[in-house]
Amino acid sequence: MPLLKPFSVLLASFLIFLFNVALSEQQIVRDSAKGVSYANFIRHKNRRLNTEQLESLTVQQHAGCGGKCLLNSKCTSMNYGGAGGHECQLLVANKFDSPEAMTSDESFEHFSVASPCDKNPCLNGGKCLSIYEHNSYRCQCPWEFNVWKNCERGDWTAFWWYNKDTTWPSHETDVLAYNFGHCRSSDPYCFGRLPTDAIEDSTEMLAIDSEGTKYKWSFNSANPVAHAAWRAFHDHEMVPYGQVLKESASWGPDALVGKSPIAQQNSFMYREQNGVKSVMLDNDSCDCKTTLSLGHGMCFAGHVSSLSPANQYGVDTLYEPACVSGVENAPRPSVGLTLYFRTRE
Ligand SMILES: *[C@@H]1O[C@H](CO)[C@@H](O)[C@H](O)[C@H]1NC(C)=O
Repeated sequence: MPLLKPFSVLLASFLIFLFNVALSEQQIVRDSAKGVSYANFIRHKNRRLNTEQLESLTVQQHAGCGGKCLLNSKCTSMNYGGAGGHECQLLVANKFDSPEAMTSDESFEHFSVASPCDKNPCLNGGKCLSIYEHNSYRCQCPWEFNVWKNCERGDWTAFWWYNKDTTWPSHETDVLAYNFGHCRSSDPYCFGRLPTDAIEDSTEMLAIDSEGTKYKWSFNSANPVAHAAWRAFHDHEMVPYGQVLKESASWGPDALVGKSPIAQQNSFMYREQNGVKSVMLDNDSCDCKTTLSLGHGMCFAGHVSSLSPANQYGVDTLYEPACVSGVENAPRPSVGLTLYFRTRE
């Protein structure tokens, strides 16, 4: 779309602040306390963003329309023009979150607040969402590129996932049922294992959940907890309750994003519960304070309904803030999780 030079709008009741603001990197500042508001707008000729209007006003100039947008804390873009040429439509949506609403319209110009999204930082089909108040952005990435901020996947490959809000597939009886390569990327879940040619002491695993927490583990044949997880994820061997329990060596992940686990991860199980072979990595083989909990909730050799309701399946979040009775400890369909692997450099 045609881009013209950006223009800026400054509203100041105390001129002394003018220089501070003009020198700032920030593209929009709404600071009524200091009496200064400021925005850089980018102009799109012959365009109108056809979305819900916060307000429609008549103003003489497009700069006046920018001023009105600044004064409305929800406004992120505006259309200016129309039949009489002076209609100012303030919008809460913008070209980044609602690209499908951008229409050709010779009687209008569209203005959006300048944003890091204007540089298209999101790769692999990711959608850029502008966070105007911090002059920053967030990429909404397709699941298989969900690894880093700009949807780069790097050298990580997904081998297991459960998309948030997927109905538990009732015919599945094993969260590690399938060989690597069995799933298609469009599948809503993939109960896959590590590739058979992966090598234990040089494989890393990355887990990302739907809360955005990212944990990284390194497999290690000398660590009993790590080795049990390897036996499950790679060799498809069951690990019954009691075999790997409160080991003196724990297998803690690096928290790349989010908080570290609140308890030592020194216990591992991969065993059947309520008809589904399920995985649990935690501090005592009983639900809560788990990092990986896939399938059905478990406690010791059974499960405890107050911690994890019977016949509720899914995945649990990587980080658990506390141990409370109720569903928050348990695997559940409202959480999403993807597991990736790579060979360590
Ligand atoms: C380990 O988990 C149990 C609940 O399963 C909890 O009561 C206990 O406090 C935890 N231990 C630590 C050190 O967090």
